[in-house]
Parts: sequence; structure tokens; C-alpha cells
Amino acid sequence: MSTALITGASGGIGYELALEHVRRGGDVILVARREEKLREYKAKWESTYGVNVHVIGMDLAQRGSAQELHDAVSAKGLTVDILINNAGFGQYGLFEESDLDRAMQMLELNIVTLTALTRLFVVDMVRRRSGRIMNVASTASFQPVPLMTLYAATKAFVLSFSEALNNEVSDRGVTVTALCPGPTTSGFQDVAAMHEARMVDRRLMATSADVARFGYDAMMRGKPVAVHGLLNRITTFLVRLTPRSIILYIGRMIAEKR
Ligand SMILES: NC(=O)c1ccc[n+]([C@@H]2O[C@H](COP(=O)([O-])OP(=O)(O)OC[C@H]3O[C@@H](n4cnc5c(N)ncnc54)[C@H](OP(=O)(O)O)[C@@H]3O)[C@@H](O)[C@H]2O)c1
Repeated sequence: MSTALITGASGGIGYELALEHVRRGGDVILVARREEKLREYKAKWESTYGVNVHVIGMDLAQRGSAQELHDAVSAKGLTVDILINNAGFGQYGLFEESDLDRAMQMLELNIVTLTALTRLFVVDMVRRRSGRIMNVASTASFQPVPLMTLYAATKAFVLSFSEALNNEVSDRGVTVTALCPGPTTSGFQDVAAMHEARMVDRRLMATSADVARFGYDAMMRGKPVAVHGLLNRITTFLVRLTPRSIILYIGRMIAEKR
């Protein structure tokens, strides 16, 4: 059975993606800063599912962390068949008022580390002519989002990067899937301090488990872009046909506080 490396596996969508894989009997390499949580899952999953769970506690917003992670995986003699770049966070509010250090950390985690990990692992996959990569993007990848200005821009990068890379490598047995969830219940809203935003409406939000199940299946089928939920699929389609000024107006409206 294959080995999947999942970043941001200590909670939310990443935790559920890891669970999808171990339920199918696959081994996992779990990466996040909260190592104690990952160790809890290791103890539980190894006894419940009879799989191997490797734990690597690491801050992936640090420059050079992707190389460090690739080295740590090689040192353990592991082969990564599936790479899931899930770790990421958002910042809510006016860009001019954002904490600059935190904004730079977001660029590092959501863009730089994701890119470097993909570059490091895709080479091994292409050489083996086999591999799956999932990059967790967002419905925010499809249009600019005022009040989540920089976050949406990082996710636009992830979608563009993933689609083009999939085109480059899919003829050699490797696929790249951009998973695009809409608002989903997880630790994301706490971290981004955005509970008052109109778009955070628990009645309309998906669960991390639903998003993960959908995304995992799409990745295994080699789907290049996987938008979760019918309403999200309709809106991301309509965005392509609607003038940018209207999209920005609507985006601002749903991003504002209630
Ligand atoms: N929830 C949504 O509404 C939504 C919608 C669209 C896209 N997404 C995307 O989905 C992905 C997963 O987010 P989520 O919703 O599951 O949020 P979450 O519950 O906050 O989970 C984020 C995960 O990333 C890890 N992480 C954060 N900073 C890290 C760092 N510096 N180094 C290593 N790991 C780090 C966290 O672990 P530690 O804190 O233990 O490090 C945690 O496991 C993100 O890329 C997010 O942008 C979320």
C-alpha cells in the first residue's frame, strides 16, 4: 500500500485526509507544528488500522523547511507516493492593517513551502513514473476577495501552479489535483479571526470530513481541479462569465462583518 505525506495533519481538513488514507490501509507521514497531536493519532491509528504512521513536527512557515522535510523523509528511507500540501492559513481584515510578519509567514507557508515541497517530491515521482500530488487551494482561488486580499492571492497561485504542473507531468504517470473547498468548519476561522464575516455561516459550511472524502477521491482519480459542493461549482463557473467589478462588489459584501 502507498505512503502519503500530509502537511497540516494535526487538525481540520488535513487530519481528515490522513484518516481517509489510513482507513484504506495506507501508511502516512504526518507533518505539523503540534507534534503531540500527531503522536496521539499515531498511537490510535497504528493499533486500529495496522498501518505505519510517521510523525514529523515542523514549522513549515520557516524558510528552508521543505528541504529539511524532504531530507527527514529520505533519512527514514521512506518513499512518498502521495504528497498532500494542505497546511495553510488565512488573514482577515484590511490589508493595510495586517500584521506584516504574519502576512510574510502566510506567503511562506501557503506558497513558498508548498512550491518547494512539490518541486522536491515531483522529481522522485516522475522518475518512478507514478505519484499523486494534492495542493489544497480554495474557492477563493477563482477571484480576488477583499478583506482576505493576500490569502485569496496565495490560493490563486496554488490553483494556477497546480493546473499547469498537472499538464506538464500527467503524461508521465503523475497527477496534480487542486482541491478547492468553500467555507469549511475547521480551525481556519479561529486562526484567521473571521467568525464575524458573513461568509462564515455554520448552516452553509461543509465539514472537514466531507471535503476530505471528496478531495481524496478526486486526487485518486487524477482530477486536475476539484471544487467541493454544487453551489461552489456553480459560483466558480459563473465567476468566469461575470465582470470583475461585480465579482469584487459581491466578494466584498460577503466578506464584510455581519
Ligand atoms: N476551512 C476553510 O474554510 C477552508 C476553505 C478553503 C481552503 N482551506 C484550506 O484548507 C487547508 C487546511 O485548512 P483547515 O481549514 O483544515 O484549517 P485548520 O483546521 O486551521 O488546519 C490547518 C493545519 O495546518 C497546520 N499548520 C498551520 N500553520 C503551520 C505551520 N507554520 N507549519 C506546519 N503546519 C502548519 C496546522 O497545524 P499546527 O497548528 O499543528 O501546525 C493544521 O494542522 C488550508 O490550506 C486552508 O487554506 C480552508
